[in-house]
Amino acid sequence: MTETYAIETYHLRKEYGPKVAVQDLSLSVRRGEVFGFLGPNGAGKTTSIKILLGLVSPTAGAGALLGRPLGDLQTRERIGFLPEHFRFPDWLTGEEFLLYNGRLCGKLERKLASRVNELLDLVGLTAHRKLLIKTYSKGMLQRIGLAQALVNDPDLVFLDEPTSGLDPVGRRLVRDIIGKLREEGKAVFLNSHLLSEVEITCDRVAFIKYGKVLRTADLKEMLDGDTRLDVHAEGLTSEVLEGLAEFGRVVEAQDSRLMMVVDNRTRLPDINRYLIEKDAKVFAFTPKPIDLEDLFLEIIGTDGGL
Ligand SMILES: Nc1ncnc2c1ncn2[C@@H]1O[C@H](COP(=O)(O)OP(=O)(O)OP(=O)(O)O)[C@@H](O)[C@H]1O
Ligand SMILES: [Mg+2]
Repeated sequence: MTETYAIETYHLRKEYGPKVAVQDLSLSVRRGEVFGFLGPNGAGKTTSIKILLGLVSPTAGAGALLGRPLGDLQTRERIGFLPEHFRFPDWLTGEEFLLYNGRLCGKLERKLASRVNELLDLVGLTAHRKLLIKTYSKGMLQRIGLAQALVNDPDLVFLDEPTSGLDPVGRRLVRDIIGKLREEGKAVFLNSHLLSEVEITCDRVAFIKYGKVLRTADLKEMLDGDTRLDVHAEGLTSEVLEGLAEFGRVVEAQDSRLMMVVDNRTRLPDINRYLIEKDAKVFAFTPKPIDLEDLFLEIIGTDGGL
C-alpha cells in the first residue's frame, strides 16, 4: 500500500445481522483526485465512508487511507469529514465551534485563530461568526460543517452530501472549494445525489448498488462519445426493441417512448432507417450528448436499490 493512493480498499464488506449494507467494495482513489461515489438510496455509500473512517468495523476485507491501515489514529490528523447527518453543539457560536474543532485536532492556538478566520471567509459566514449555531439556517449549518471538515488542512476530505440544503450560491461555493482542494493536491471523496454537480466537479466516479461497485471510470472518458437517443414512435414491439440492441443499449422503453445510448453517432441514420423499415411510426427522433444522469440510469437501472 503506497501513498500514491489516498484510498485503497479490498473487498470490504459490512453486515448488520442478516442485512448486508456493503457487499464488496474494492476501489482506489489517487492523491489530487476528486472521486464521486454514486448510487441509489440505501446502496451503502454512507456505510462505506464510515468503514473508511474507522467509525464502523468491516465484517471482511481491508483497506488503507494515505498509505496506512483503516482505523489508524495518526492518519485521522490528516483527514476531514462532513457527515451526512450531523449534530453540532448548538450552544456554541460558529466561530467557537471551529476553534473547538481545531483544538481537538491539536492545532496551535496562535495558528488556529487565523485558520478559523480564513475558513469563515471561505464558507461565507464571517458576518455570522458570533451567532449561536442554534440560530443557523440549514444552509448555514452545512457551510459551518464544511468549514469544520477543513480546519486541520486535511490531505483527504470525505464529504457526504455536502450540497444538501444549499441554495445555488452555496452549491457554487462548495464546487469552488472542491476545485481549490484539488489544485492543492488534496483528495476528495464525494457522496452526492446531485449528478449535475458531480459531473462538473469529479475526475472519476464509482457507481454502487446493493453495496457493490458496478463500475469505476474516468468521467470525461465515459461521457465522451456516447449519445443519448430519445424516440417517440408507435409500433415499438418487443421484436423491434430486440433488433435495436444491435445499434446500442436500450435503457428504457415504455409504450411509445424509448431511450437508448449509442456509442457512435454515425449509427443514428441506420437506427432511423431500421425503425422505418420495421413500420414504426416515428414522431420524434432526438439525439443529444449523454450526461451523468443518463449514465446513472443506464448503469444503476430504474428500479431504485432499496
Ligand atoms: N447501523 C445499521 N444497522 C442496520 N442496517 C443499517 C445500518 N446502517 C445502514 N444500514 C442499512 O445498510 C444499507 C446501506 O445504508 P447507507 O446509509 O450506507 O446507504 P446510502 O447509500 O448512504 O443511502 P442514501 O443515499 O439514502 O444516503 C441500508 O439498507 C441501511 O438500512
Ligand atoms: Mg447516505
